[in-house]
Amino acid sequence: MKEITFNDIEGKIAEAETEGQVEALRIEYLGRKGSITKELRNISELPKSKRAREGARLNEIKNKMEEALSDRIDQLRSQKLQEESSQHYDMTMPGISPGIGHLHPVEQLERDVVELFMQLGFEVVDGPEIETEWYCFEALNIGPDHPARDMQDTFYLENGAVPRTHTSSVQIRHMENNNPPIRVIAPGKVYRNEDEDATHIWSFRQVEGLVVDYDISLSDLKGTLEYMLKGLFGEDTELRLRSNYFPYTEPSVEMDASCMVCNEASRRHCRVCKGTGWVELGGAGMVHPQVLRNVGVDPEEYSGFAFGFGLERITAVKYQLTDLRDLWRPDIRFLRQF
Ligand code: DAH
Repeated sequence: MKEITFNDIEGKIAEAETEGQVEALRIEYLGRKGSITKELRNISELPKSKRAREGARLNEIKNKMEEALSDRIDQLRSQKLQEESSQHYDMTMPGISPGIGHLHPVEQLERDVVELFMQLGFEVVDGPEIETEWYCFEALNIGPDHPARDMQDTFYLENGAVPRTHTSSVQIRHMENNNPPIRVIAPGKVYRNEDEDATHIWSFRQVEGLVVDYDISLSDLKGTLEYMLKGLFGEDTELRLRSNYFPYTEPSVEMDASCMVCNEASRRHCRVCKGTGWVELGGAGMVHPQVLRNVGVDPEEYSGFAFGFGLERITAVKYQLTDLRDLWRPDIRFLRQF
């Protein structure tokens, strides 16, 4: 019988192309009925003089073979991994984005406004959305028969409470519990009994502002509003105050911003300012002495200014939207544009 040598086996191992073939070789030589196993078992039948040498020779083949088998398996595995990765994965390809969204444009505007007022040292305060008539109207000098209550068609709850029609109610709540100096803004939702159309929605968001201190004047109001406008729409934006009427301010003004969409050349056709060059943003004024008295602040000692504006309206102006209701709809095609 031909003597088994490691050389023969080594060649076969190198040629094995799969882990299965490697395993078959192990069984062929080293398995229970494998040829090396058999020869080792037969050593006792050899003449005594040959036993030791043959035993050592076979054991050496066995050890070398075991090592070669496991090396070949490692080789095959890493080969396979490499082939797979070059065929199926490009490790340098960018990953699949999890599709992170962004803030709703109205929320973004609110945060921008809050940020600007924080820079001026204002504090952000909050109040309830369901109010009593006192906080929403009476304390703000809007009497039961006051025509201002028609100006803001109100939802009434069965118990007589009102979903607040404006955030001005927060002025009262804050002044009741805090002494001047006061410097606050109050962003929040308001509700009005409106039929919906492109320019009216029955719930929207406002930002209220209130400052009460010694010697507060209309020029403080003007400077503050100007700071906000320039911060929101750019340094070139101008503020215009027009006389108006609110029961809780005296004097009362309407605040306009110079149109941020058109310039002189394109003004005639501008849909945002309708050719006037100015966009109406909200109301403001010097806090009415009666309002201060209603919350126990002496109007002889203190004065203040207040303002309020709607965030949806300003968002609509900023992005030239034609329908406010788009800001309500969860339509991703619309929202992606911002
Ligand atoms: N509350 C008014 C509205 O909802 C806005 C407003 C006007 C707020 C004048 C004020 C103010 O604080 O002084 O239309």
